Amino acid sequence: MKYFDDQQQCGIDRRNLLKGLGSAAAAGASMSFDLRQSAIAQENPVDCSPIGVRGKTPKPFKTDSSLPVRIRKSAFDLSGQEIDRLKAAYAALRNLAQDKPNDPRGWLRQGHVHCWYCGGGDNGRAGEEIHGSWLFFPWHRAYLFFHERILCKLIRDDTFALPYWDWDSEGRQTFPSAYGDPSDRANPLFDMLRSARPGSGIPSAVISPRSLSLTMNAATANLFLGSQNNTMGAMERQPHGAVHIWTADTTMRSARNDMGILATASQDPVFFAHHGNIDRLWSVWLSLSPQHRNFVSPTWRTHAWQFYDENSVWTQIQISDVLDTQNSLRYDYQPPSKKPIWTFTPRREPSIATAEAPTAEPPLVVASAPQGIELGAAPVTQTVAIPKPLESKISALSADSAPEYVLHVEDIEVPGDRQAFFNVFLNLPGANASTSVEAANFVGTVTVLAKNKAQQEHQHNAFNAAFDITDALSEVAKGAAKLSVTLVPVAPSEAGAEAGRISFKRVYIDTL
Ligand code: C2O
Repeated sequence: MKYFDDQQQCGIDRRNLLKGLGSAAAAGASMSFDLRQSAIAQENPVDCSPIGVRGKTPKPFKTDSSLPVRIRKSAFDLSGQEIDRLKAAYAALRNLAQDKPNDPRGWLRQGHVHCWYCGGGDNGRAGEEIHGSWLFFPWHRAYLFFHERILCKLIRDDTFALPYWDWDSEGRQTFPSAYGDPSDRANPLFDMLRSARPGSGIPSAVISPRSLSLTMNAATANLFLGSQNNTMGAMERQPHGAVHIWTADTTMRSARNDMGILATASQDPVFFAHHGNIDRLWSVWLSLSPQHRNFVSPTWRTHAWQFYDENSVWTQIQISDVLDTQNSLRYDYQPPSKKPIWTFTPRREPSIATAEAPTAEPPLVVASAPQGIELGAAPVTQTVAIPKPLESKISALSADSAPEYVLHVEDIEVPGDRQAFFNVFLNLPGANASTSVEAANFVGTVTVLAKNKAQQEHQHNAFNAAFDITDALSEVAKGAAKLSVTLVPVAPSEAGAEAGRISFKRVYIDTL
């Protein structure tokens, strides 16, 4: 069973894996389900389109209030019985994929739903991109909802709920053991193309009290959830992408399988526990402060997607349907039994610029390069002189100032087959990959996942990132004549000479 040991090195060849599995099955290994299901995916999914939808009119989603409220628990807090139920649900899903490959609810089809919404398969057909914008949270909530209901249906248990992987709870910066290791390969939650193991510790570059606190303290919906103009929200930037990358490859340099790549991420069952936690933290963020609110924009609230439901009915659900998890979707979260490692600090209400009360200053442009500034393996620093009016405003900032200043890094372009993972520091031009994120100069992390294993013509990955830098300015820019922004690659990917470059076009500071 050598191929299982090889998984620590990424770049494993799925065809060899299939061969190995074939012989394992032939050897009559006793398994509660057919492990080949874990490896039926192609190198890159070729076609992720939803099947059998031509000519179908989707049925609008309706709440079924007769259903019990499903209680999602931490994967670390599940009882033995609950873990068995979880395994039974995924075994049923994998078996469905094998027995009825054209059932739209089966395991691989479920995986392809995510692929469809993140760039699509090799055939160039894709749905709407739901990463890198204000669609990120609600789409994943809807996806998890239908996935969970399908699992309920398959095991005939309407109380079944997905667990969440609370990497933000004390002592839980590790991989949840329920999801298995190579000695437990009959476990339907195990994925052979994953490098994280129970007991592997998540490094502080991925999860730290400081970076989680920055995320959970994001002051506005634009900053936390992401914005309409392709700006990633704080959670998607950190730690969403980094946990994906680390799960696929704990060295983080070359996350080229399952969780590390958007096209295949949800072929690892732990995807749903990772996103369960992200979804839970959306609700937690809303509960932290009356200033934390969802968008009211009708454009956002009426935005809709289609999914197959647990009865294989092609269903349309809109964002307003997913905002009340308890009453509309019939699930809720049991808080983790451990405290969070992040802290929330209440702040004064930001004064948001309006047409009547525009902000005083024009944006401060730190860098602008239409042809792009390359971000290779070395840190890149951009510097600008601080104009006098801004200088005096910065000196007036104090620890209890309302959030006001936002740093934008825009048109971050990442080739479809590459990942990007970098930290951003203010006024610390010497920052490098070992600079602590505890430094007051640290303002956040950006992670962009590879979409696909091989670069496709149609793949274009361009995102913006926005950081609340009010506190950082008050701590590290008072009295400074210049302001510098340093982007520090955390785990530069091992890209060949032929790999496309990672670049960004604009860096500027404006106000909320
Ligand atoms: Cu749709 Cu965690 O990615």
